[in-house]
Amino acid sequence: MANNALTVAILGPGGVGGLLAALLARTGHRVICLAGPETVETLRTKGIQVRSRQFGDFTARVEAETELREPVDACFVAVKHTALDAALDRVPPTVLGDGLVIPLLNGVEHPALLRARYRPDRVSPGIIRVESTRVGPGVIEHASPFIEIDLTSGLVPEAQLKPLVDALAEAGTTTRVLDDEAAALWSKLAFLAPFALLTTRYAVPLGIIRTDHADELSALVAETVAVARTFGALTDPAQIMSRYNAFPPESKSSMQRDAEAGRSLELDAIGGALLRAAAQRKVPVPVATRLVEEL
Ligand SMILES: NC(=O)c1ccc[n+]([C@@H]2O[C@H](COP(=O)([O-])OP(=O)(O)OC[C@H]3O[C@@H](n4cnc5c(N)ncnc54)[C@H](OP(=O)(O)O)[C@@H]3O)[C@@H](O)[C@H]2O)c1
Repeated sequence: MANNALTVAILGPGGVGGLLAALLARTGHRVICLAGPETVETLRTKGIQVRSRQFGDFTARVEAETELREPVDACFVAVKHTALDAALDRVPPTVLGDGLVIPLLNGVEHPALLRARYRPDRVSPGIIRVESTRVGPGVIEHASPFIEIDLTSGLVPEAQLKPLVDALAEAGTTTRVLDDEAAALWSKLAFLAPFALLTTRYAVPLGIIRTDHADELSALVAETVAVARTFGALTDPAQIMSRYNAFPPESKSSMQRDAEAGRSLELDAIGGALLRAAAQRKVPVPVATRLVEEL
């Protein structure tokens, strides 16, 4: 049982949100998942079933609602960017009040959107590194042997994040607090954007991108790093390339999996955001521009 039980809402109990909901619930926190009516019904009757390479198989009981109806300590936002606007209707700002807002989306533009809607000084964007898939409502496959979450203390003082950091650590995640929000978000995007854009554009796994599109990959990494550095990201092309090289050749990006399944893509949140930032910072990004157009 958790030492200091929190009440946490999870908007979007999918690959990321469902895993986090189940991990927090099983350590004794009160978890309220916010989703559409069918998913709510499934979660209420069956809970969340997790199959995890790291944690084994388990089922966690959670509460589920179509809308937040009471204050919570924190609300994690774990929908895809394409669903964000509609999903936020489930979290009325007046009900959330002083609760923390922790978005875990990839991309760099959602924090501004959230701060326009909720108390800006309660929004602490998170960065999550995990491979976790919603294979059905309330059924989650966690394939990576880790789940790493960085919270950012740009506007929310670190002391106010401490109970959440402790809860996440106790639940089994590796959690840090970083003080430079823009640098943290851009470090992730600099790594993710080339991987997502190229694997989706050519519909092949990372191993083939590394061999058959090597020049394009290194040019795109150089472009994204150049943009990310203008936001303070401490990242360099060699570091990103060596991380790609450490991945198994069959690795696919989640944008590519969405394309294969005919789901809408987070192309604007990843590629679009990169092009807008590049234009603003006057960094030329010809390869990224062409790939976004082709996609
Ligand atoms: N999955 C990963 O391994 C991973 C890793 C790092 C970062 N990310 C990022 O994390 C974010 C979430 O990705 P994901 O893979 O977890 O997505 P996902 O598996 O598709 O889950 C999204 C969840 O949002 C729910 N949803 C959609 N519209 C909603 C609405 N209007 N109201 C409430 N809930 C709604 C879906 O509900 P239903 O279940 O009812 O369809 C689903 O459970 C993305 O930005 C992604 O890039 C993902």
